[in-house]
Amino acid sequence: MTKRIPLVAGNWKLNGSRASIQALLAGIKTGLQNNAAAGELVVCPPFVYLNEIAQQLQGSNIIVGAQDVSEQAEGAFTGEVAAAMLAEVGCRYVIIGHSERRHVYGESDQLTAQKFVATQHAKLIPILCVGETLAEREQGITEKVIAQQLDAALQVSTIKAFVNAVIAYEPVWAIGTGKTASPEQAQAVHAFIRQRLTQHDAVIAAAVRIIYGGSVKANNAKEIFSQPDIDGGLIGGASLQAKDFLDIYYAAG
Ligand code: PGA
Repeated sequence: MTKRIPLVAGNWKLNGSRASIQALLAGIKTGLQNNAAAGELVVCPPFVYLNEIAQQLQGSNIIVGAQDVSEQAEGAFTGEVAAAMLAEVGCRYVIIGHSERRHVYGESDQLTAQKFVATQHAKLIPILCVGETLAEREQGITEKVIAQQLDAALQVSTIKAFVNAVIAYEPVWAIGTGKTASPEQAQAVHAFIRQRLTQHDAVIAAAVRIIYGGSVKANNAKEIFSQPDIDGGLIGGASLQAKDFLDIYYAAG
């Protein structure tokens, strides 16, 4: 079986100040001092802090990611940030298609797919978020929704693009609600995602990391991450406390 390196990413969302972020980073660094875990640890601060945080973390084993990116490379797009800019300041990962982008800001599967391409064009690794709403789950169309979200990215790129991509399964009803998918529910969707990619290329599908997000906490991480197709987590609320975040990280290792 292909060995997949676990990945745990903290999505800080619209939280923090320079002072609180410094305290959080200091806590994470201290807790990682004797890091024997085999995984990758990523933090995704708000855009304005990326530059200084990436500089500070150079040479450490904490990786920096962005929470979003423009689908455009350059030009008259007020307020946008291009992938090449993120690469230049030291990001390695970019979250795209997060449910808050899709549902609060109305970003479509197509726009998300364009962001996927733009991210890879700048040699950054997209963390492509997919997930169904509660209504969609109750209608029994979870797989259909996820398939559409995946297919949009596959259509504008190819399966080869998934060699350098991470997928995050985040059921919308589990994000920030304290309700997690059960390990079995999450595993079922992760297996579905992997199987769908297998139809295009079995080797790439076996190697792609599929992480879970949605109310992952220190006390439920181990059980979720122990599922065969779950390769780590995308962590919101619990990534804002160094100890909780590290406990989750070590649960994936
Ligand atoms: P949560 O957020 O851990 O606070 O549920 C997860 C996410 O939005 O990625």
